[in-house]
Amino acid sequence: MVNLVVEHLKYRYPLGNELALEDISFEVKKGEFIGIIGENGSGKSTLCQAIVGLVPNFYKGAYGGKVLVKEIEVAQSDVSEISSYVGIVFQNPFTQITGSKLTVYEEVAFGLENLGIPREEMIKRIEESLKLLRLFEYRHFNPFELSGGQMQRLAIASVIAMKPDILVLDEPTSQLDPQGSEEVFQAIQDLAKNGMTIIIAEHKIEKIASYADKIILLHKGKLVDFDTPEKIFSREDIEEYGIVPPVYTRICKSLNVKNEAGFYPVTLEQVYYELVKVYG
Ligand SMILES: Nc1ncnc2c1ncn2[C@@H]1O[C@H](COP(=O)(O)OP(=O)(O)OP(=O)(O)O)[C@@H](O)[C@H]1O
Ligand SMILES: [Mg+2]
Repeated sequence: MVNLVVEHLKYRYPLGNELALEDISFEVKKGEFIGIIGENGSGKSTLCQAIVGLVPNFYKGAYGGKVLVKEIEVAQSDVSEISSYVGIVFQNPFTQITGSKLTVYEEVAFGLENLGIPREEMIKRIEESLKLLRLFEYRHFNPFELSGGQMQRLAIASVIAMKPDILVLDEPTSQLDPQGSEEVFQAIQDLAKNGMTIIIAEHKIEKIASYADKIILLHKGKLVDFDTPEKIFSREDIEEYGIVPPVYTRICKSLNVKNEAGFYPVTLEQVYYELVKVYG
């Protein structure tokens, strides 16, 4: 079932000279885990904002084409109407935290109160999402007493608690250490397995290689490719887009180890699988 359609999306910021997004089209099915990659300034954050309707409803500017979330056209809808279907975790957790709640617990409750969720269901969801992001023991802390990584996890917990059909995350692990990033990716993967559609802009190529079903490769506001990690990272021209493929892909390329479909492996497991075929 398709639950996100982007059609010929174009956008220029009010003070921008060039298009930040230029003729972007793709479709995402329910429960898919989609990575967005591209060098700095390629349009990842802008695309995330357009999927949730902040572009063009909050960031004005020149807009063309369509974004349909569950068949609702986001540019024509209130951000509040869309917010029960699609949630966003911003690149900087400080922009996400309300700043008005005294505890981590209340911070997560805030979004749910706005959605009018019944009290019992609310308590259940708050506890579930705090536990999933390993924040339950910090529930009585002031959000501003948290470390950068904990605050980032709180931003994710607050959005997850709202159970959006589509969860958009813009570099959600930028403040996290390797273990923290791994935990967040695993938590997000579980959500995808339970049917939540995940769209994540991320510079951590190895993580995207292991977790994404498909990758959107952006360059200067254009969609260069939308395909599986194996196909994207096997592109001969990938480095021209400022992307360094996963180390496993680079090793396999230098050894000319390809999978049956003719693409280079992108994860350790895939390398192992190919090598066992050769060496037994
Ligand atoms: N508020 C704004 N006003 C004008 N131009 C903007 C604004 N925000 C972003 N841009 C421009 O739009 C383009 C895309 O920016 P965007 O932030 O989407 O890139 P990104 O891929 O998220 O980069 P990064 O990897 O640094 O997060 C860039 O050229 C940027 O300068
Ligand atoms: Mg960005």
